[in-house]
Amino acid sequence: METIKTQNLTKIFKVKRKEIKAIQNINLSIQSGEIFVLLGPNGAGKTTFLKTISTLILPTYGDGWVNGYNIKKDEYKVRRSIGLSTGFERSFYYRLNGYQNLEFFGTLYGLKGKYLKVKYDSPLFN
Ligand SMILES: Nc1ncnc2c1ncn2[C@@H]1O[C@H](COP(=O)(O)OP(=O)(O)OP(=O)(O)O)[C@@H](O)[C@H]1O
Ligand SMILES: [Mg+2]
Repeated sequence: METIKTQNLTKIFKVKRKEIKAIQNINLSIQSGEIFVLLGPNGAGKTTFLKTISTLILPTYGDGWVNGYNIKKDEYKVRRSIGLSTGFERSFYYRLNGYQNLEFFGTLYGLKGKYLKVKYDSPLFN
């Protein structure tokens, strides 16, 4: 299954009548279970790409799907189907280990008991 798919994904910021092409025509397909690393120099558009596919901002052109849901039409379904841990704000606690961090944020998402456990009982963590 395709976890992330984009078609000509483009984001242009307009600042004082100047256009900044943050990302331009990104076409990619990431399969379920695939580990994908996005590398690029400062200002290359990595954060803009992540914000766009996680529905924090709208693309200017193009389209995208996450877990089969459209990022423009089904933003709530996209959000419910992902967990986003970003570097642009405090998104994990150094003093907690990985499992404890997952448990902490899972609790904030309202997960309890076996549901909280099931979430991190995935083969990815074994
Ligand atoms: N909200 C915004 N308004 C205007 N321009 C923006 C905005 N966000 C990003 N940009 C511009 O878009 C381009 C891509 O920025 P982005 O933050 O996506 O890059 P990045 O690859 O994440 O960089 P870094 O490695 O520094 O985190 C840059 O030129 C940046 O200045
Ligand atoms: Mg960034």
